[in-house]
Amino acid sequence: MSPPLLVARDIVAGYVPGLPIVKGVSADVARGEIVTIIGPNGAGKSTFLKALAGLVPVTSGEVRLGDAVVTGKDTHRLIAAGLAFVPQTGNVFTTLTIHENLTVGGHTIGPALRRRLDAAYEMFPALAAKRGQKARVLSGGQRQMLAIARALMTEPSVIMLDEPTAGLAPRVVGEVFADLRRLAQTDVAVLMVEQNAKAALRISDRGYVLADGENRFSGAASDLLADPAVAEAFLGSRRAGVAGSEAGRTH
Ligand SMILES: Nc1ncnc2c1ncn2[C@@H]1O[C@H](COP(=O)(O)OP(=O)(O)O)[C@@H](O)[C@H]1O
Ligand SMILES: [Mg+2]
Repeated sequence: MSPPLLVARDIVAGYVPGLPIVKGVSADVARGEIVTIIGPNGAGKSTFLKALAGLVPVTSGEVRLGDAVVTGKDTHRLIAAGLAFVPQTGNVFTTLTIHENLTVGGHTIGPALRRRLDAAYEMFPALAAKRGQKARVLSGGQRQMLAIARALMTEPSVIMLDEPTAGLAPRVVGEVFADLRRLAQTDVAVLMVEQNAKAALRISDRGYVLADGENRFSGAASDLLADPAVAEAFLGSRRAGVAGSEAGRTH
């Protein structure tokens, strides 16, 4: 197993000085690995990813990307260093075409643009077929593919995604996860936050459970799935109430 590529240690971060939301969270991800962060709403998962992406101030702790300490660096410098971030919302320009979505900002990547475009369309043929159409015509799953494809245009070594399957139909959830597995097979490190906790852990190598801004559990995804304490509190899917048989019901 390769050493971790992105390492976050004891990250404290928040929106208001003196009011930390993330209270000392650690996580890491290696090349070719998929690591998923789960946890209840409000746990600080999104804030943690945003802190790593340079979008929320980090008050203490350290972020390392490869050999470099990148704590608190500007987002554009992190992108240049190989870190990509797909936020949960607002991650595509609906009024631009698919092609424009992929090439906007292309001036920063110069002559490699054509090669990267070809790679994006090869990975996502559904996007290639609609390249001249506005992104707003895309289905939810295709929009998520476009968001991922956009992030890949900078040829990142690490991609972070905040709830990439939010709002998608179960079949499409599987497609997005399959895309992420293919991506990991190209040696990209994938760090995501997911509410589809079980499905996400099933395609992940490792996972972390965050609660109240702190690490609660971590380990191999298969171990987390099998851990009754994790299942009890954190793996009851939102649809569990309907099924009535999930461990995550409150009692
Ligand atoms: N832009 C913001 N400004 C202030 N507080 C925020 C902001 N975004 C989120 N929070 C607060 O941070 C806490 C954690 O939110 P978040 O990181 O989005 O949790 P999660 O992604 O785990 O659901 C919540 O209490 C939320 O109200
Ligand atoms: Mg969130």
